[in-house]
Amino acid sequence: MPNTVLVGSQWGDEGKGKIIDVLTRDVDVVIRFQGGNNAGHTVKIDDQTYVLHLIPSGIFFEDKTCIIGNGVVINPVALLQEIDELAAKGISVKDRLFVSDRAHVVLPYHGEIDAAREARLSDEQRIGTTKRGIGPAYGDKVSRTGLRMCDFVGPNAAAMIEARINEANLILGAMNAELLDVEKVRDEYLTVAERVRPFVTDTIVMVHKAIAESKSILFEGAQGTMLDIDYGTYPFVTSSNATAGGACTGTGAPPNRIDRVIGVIKTYTTRVGEGPFPTELNDPDGRMMADRGHEFGATTGRPRRCGWFDAVIGRYAAQINGVDYWAMTKLDVLDEFETIKICVAYELDGKRIEHVPADVEMLQRCKPLYEEWPGWMSSTSELSKWEELPEKAQAYINRLCDLTGAKLGILSVGPKRSSTMRIAL
Ligand code: GDP
Ligand code: IMO
Ligand code: MG
Repeated sequence: MPNTVLVGSQWGDEGKGKIIDVLTRDVDVVIRFQGGNNAGHTVKIDDQTYVLHLIPSGIFFEDKTCIIGNGVVINPVALLQEIDELAAKGISVKDRLFVSDRAHVVLPYHGEIDAAREARLSDEQRIGTTKRGIGPAYGDKVSRTGLRMCDFVGPNAAAMIEARINEANLILGAMNAELLDVEKVRDEYLTVAERVRPFVTDTIVMVHKAIAESKSILFEGAQGTMLDIDYGTYPFVTSSNATAGGACTGTGAPPNRIDRVIGVIKTYTTRVGEGPFPTELNDPDGRMMADRGHEFGATTGRPRRCGWFDAVIGRYAAQINGVDYWAMTKLDVLDEFETIKICVAYELDGKRIEHVPADVEMLQRCKPLYEEWPGWMSSTSELSKWEELPEKAQAYINRLCDLTGAKLGILSVGPKRSSTMRIAL
């Protein structure tokens, strides 16, 4: 398989974990390039359900190499917990999971600051973060005060951790939040570093060796385009580039070694956390999507907000990421809707617009302009071929592709590996 970047194209939880798992058979290396344990990527294999937060979703194939790239922020305690949970289920990551020495480390104060900031905001301002410390950790990285994996497992770790916590305590104190016990955290984290050390390596060397040997690489995005720090609904976003460009900056792979981009996109829309969501439904249709789609966050368990497919956002995601193919997911969730709506444009202050405004207050005011499509009213979850789909379902999917300007590569009709139609990929 050509080197492929896979990104979320809405507000996350599009089913990236499932699609990565399906594609891993055809690649040599799977590499996460951004985000942290705010992500929750679900992989269903037979009767087992796994939720991965930091470890790439390709880990279930023993002969594949999995890398956590330099663009990821890593909570080392969460990483060890994930490794242990997999081990308890009989999956060993030894000698096939590698962690970038340039990746930044999430320390306990990041989570504390994240939570304290959220607590100070009003209901309208609150981002609804996962409280995993992601924003403050990327903040430290950009402020050049962060601790990288090479520091964390290196000889000066104790002093560096102490310095970080001492500074953080000044901030926490000013926010009236509880201070951290410097020695306690330092000692605990030095023990953690011992266990993490064997996984830490220069993954850029690995990526370039793979490229030189013509191995095939799958770049696993977390979150989604509308949560991207630059292109999303700022400030209701995460703190990294979840779009395709992040695959290069987050791994050290050059742009001209990326062959294609797959956008994962639900056939409707969900969002967890706060922020604008033009097609959101607070009605029985929205509740039916939530029920049929089991729309609860894989990381925090919070209910996901649901709404119709938004082709304005789909088109924007196709453009920014250069989506060659869609992996469209959760078609089965729409099986029992008599009428299905697609948002084709917005009405903003009496005018029709077909782009996503930068200003979130403007986006809040955007009213979706809908097209209505007849539902197919039959189960698609056991189907395995495009030809078997009801004509109305085919027409709906074709319309989504036309409106967004990318081809259909994969269609997913259920959480399991087998519920996947490989159309052009
Ligand atoms: P990710 O963060 O993009 O990997 O997505 P999540 O794992 O957070 O959420 C996607 C959810 O939808 C998971 O529970 C998946 O098991 C499930 N899922 C994925 N594809 C399909 C599908 O085609 N149909 C249904 N019904 N569920 C799916
Ligand atoms: P995956 O990879 C859905 C959301 C949070 C919040 C905002 C900022 O599973 O698709 P953060 O903790 O990152 O500072 O929170 O981003 N968010 C996600 N929503 N899926 C995710 O990851 C998310 N990761 C963060 O809910 O609105
Ligand atoms: Mg998720």
